[in-house]
Amino acid sequence: MITQKCIDEIKLAARIEEVVGDFVQLKKSGASYKGMCPFHNDHDPSLHVTPRLGIYHCFVCGASGDAIKFLRENQQMSYTEALRYLAEKYHIEVEEEKRELTPEQEAAKSEREALLKVNEYAEKFFIDQLFNTEEGQNIGMTYLRDKRGFRPETIKKFKLGYCPDSWETFSTQATNDGYNPEYLITLGLCRRSEKTGRLFDFYKGRVIFPILNTIGSTIGFGGRVMSSDVKGPKYYNSPENPIYHKSDVLYGFYQAKRAMRTQNNVYLVEGYTDVISMSEAGVENVVASSGTALTEGQIKLVKSQTDNITVLYDGDRAGIKASLRGINMLVAAGLHVKAVLLPDGEDPDSFAKGHRDSELYDYLTQNAVSVIQFKVDVLMQDAGDDPLKRAEAVKDIIATIAEVRDEIERAFYVKECAELLHLSEESVNVSLRQAVWKRINTRPADLPHPEQPQPQTLPNLSPVVEVPHPQSPTVDPIQNVELDVVRLLLKYGMLETNVETEAENGTRKVKSVRIDQYVFNEFSQDEILFENPLYQRFYKEYARLAQEKPTQEELLQAFAHHEDSEIQELAIPILSEEEPPFSEAWLKRFDVDTRKPDTDIENLNQALTGCINLYKLRLIEKQKKLLTKELEEKHTEKEEREIMERLVQLNEMYRKLGELQRAVIVP
Ligand code: CTP
Ligand code: MN
Repeated sequence: MITQKCIDEIKLAARIEEVVGDFVQLKKSGASYKGMCPFHNDHDPSLHVTPRLGIYHCFVCGASGDAIKFLRENQQMSYTEALRYLAEKYHIEVEEEKRELTPEQEAAKSEREALLKVNEYAEKFFIDQLFNTEEGQNIGMTYLRDKRGFRPETIKKFKLGYCPDSWETFSTQATNDGYNPEYLITLGLCRRSEKTGRLFDFYKGRVIFPILNTIGSTIGFGGRVMSSDVKGPKYYNSPENPIYHKSDVLYGFYQAKRAMRTQNNVYLVEGYTDVISMSEAGVENVVASSGTALTEGQIKLVKSQTDNITVLYDGDRAGIKASLRGINMLVAAGLHVKAVLLPDGEDPDSFAKGHRDSELYDYLTQNAVSVIQFKVDVLMQDAGDDPLKRAEAVKDIIATIAEVRDEIERAFYVKECAELLHLSEESVNVSLRQAVWKRINTRPADLPHPEQPQPQTLPNLSPVVEVPHPQSPTVDPIQNVELDVVRLLLKYGMLETNVETEAENGTRKVKSVRIDQYVFNEFSQDEILFENPLYQRFYKEYARLAQEKPTQEELLQAFAHHEDSEIQELAIPILSEEEPPFSEAWLKRFDVDTRKPDTDIENLNQALTGCINLYKLRLIEKQKKLLTKELEEKHTEKEEREIMERLVQLNEMYRKLGELQRAVIVP
């Protein structure tokens, strides 16, 4: 258990733009930041991050919260994991209420946390073996240093290790230290011998490449044999398990994150040693797909850091054609794709080894070509003079252009393609239109067509066009106005406005009151309770917090980080709105002048009285309906008269309020 004092400290230190910025590319926009929302398939930057309030909010899918919620929902961390992560990020020492746990009890806390602990233990063990044992030094270190050419800093950066060449060293030590054999097996660190029933070490006699997730926890391992005469595969890799999903992981991502952002590009290579050698040679924005084409999950990871990807291809042309297939997926994801062909016989690992300092970087920047030029080079050379093959190649290239989402980029490729292939731009465009048509019509039905404008479900304040707010699935006319009151309170509750009041003797005077005070008065006079239970809860909390918090700023902070997550979710979208809530519809309804600033006192006044009157009108409408319905049932004469009287009263109130409302609407 982390102490409350420490939790408060962590929350205070966390900067939302940095926390979100570690996983989403953010661009500054006024006082806030914008980025592609990671919670839905975003096409425009709809995620808004507001540093002032420590919150994020997506205007399309409605996802919202603070730093901790972001980590929980985007990175699947538990509450404690999120706190620990933030504590580490902001160099806060985690204070815990003391409680001694055995490794088993620790493991029982949650399977995920336990599995991560086991991996952490194994990683330490392998590193210790590599650095501090004779065998590790003689065999593992010799291989990494002499055969691979890795320096000690690089070995440490990638947390490389060594598993001794004996069947049970790791298994025995891990079980002696209290680690659950089932977890060791789940993680693929050990296996159970069918003959003896004993555990044995899966990575026996291999150098170890830990695989980290996006926040630097070790979730899997690769183990490589060191001599070519060992039977079996060159690499053993962790099996799929609750913490390791191969298709969502890029090797080297954690170490490359910063460089990916500063360079605004990432190099994609095949495997562990390519990543490490390139990093060693000074190119740190490099990740590996571990030998396969990129998956959607991996592309998402890339896109969280940069829109530019450069794929590295080995110098032997034989393999290239097959590996070109994955490229359309990258293009379709909206990435700007380039390719580099390495010299004959070289792979990224070998080439990086021979080209230290800036040589590798220079080669890569000078030889990166557009995806189209690369395909033209490879496919045309492959087709030779065969006219049929050449036609196929042209189709293939145009199919790639058809995947490009950006109009301008597409036009650029059309030009490039026409020049390279000695075709007219017009004929490329004709084929392109066919290819786009084909792509759209073979796309699974559930994927949105990017050519068609996406329906924008921007939060609409107005109940006039009854569009549900992302936060309120209701289109109930009463609850809609309740939400308007919630908005008014949150955004302007502490501002002063002028209201006209009628004294006992009928004289009218203009008085300056705080908006929230005015709302409270109106509501308590008429004993109004919100129908929507959440709005009612909000209202009560507002009443409480408005007394506690001396400034608007502190009040908003309290709502942005409110412990009732439903209240928090209600508040954040309203707090992150940049535009004033006076939409066109409000203009019509309350005669608010949308051209004036939203804090204009006349406007506020207009919105306030308009909103509250409308609310009352709707409440009366509802009561009238109920009473009219009641009349239809059987009643005694007395009851009937009472109902009728009540209806007459309501009608009178309705008329009066309606006049007021008209006075507001028609000045
Ligand atoms: N790979 C794997 N399992 C294998 C072989 C390869 O997972 N049995 C993956 C690894 O991620 C590896 C990448 O494919 O890093 C590239 O394979 P390869 O080039 O054969 O591995 P290297 O260790 O680079 O070997 P070499 O020095 O022979 O190039
Ligand atoms: Mn290799």
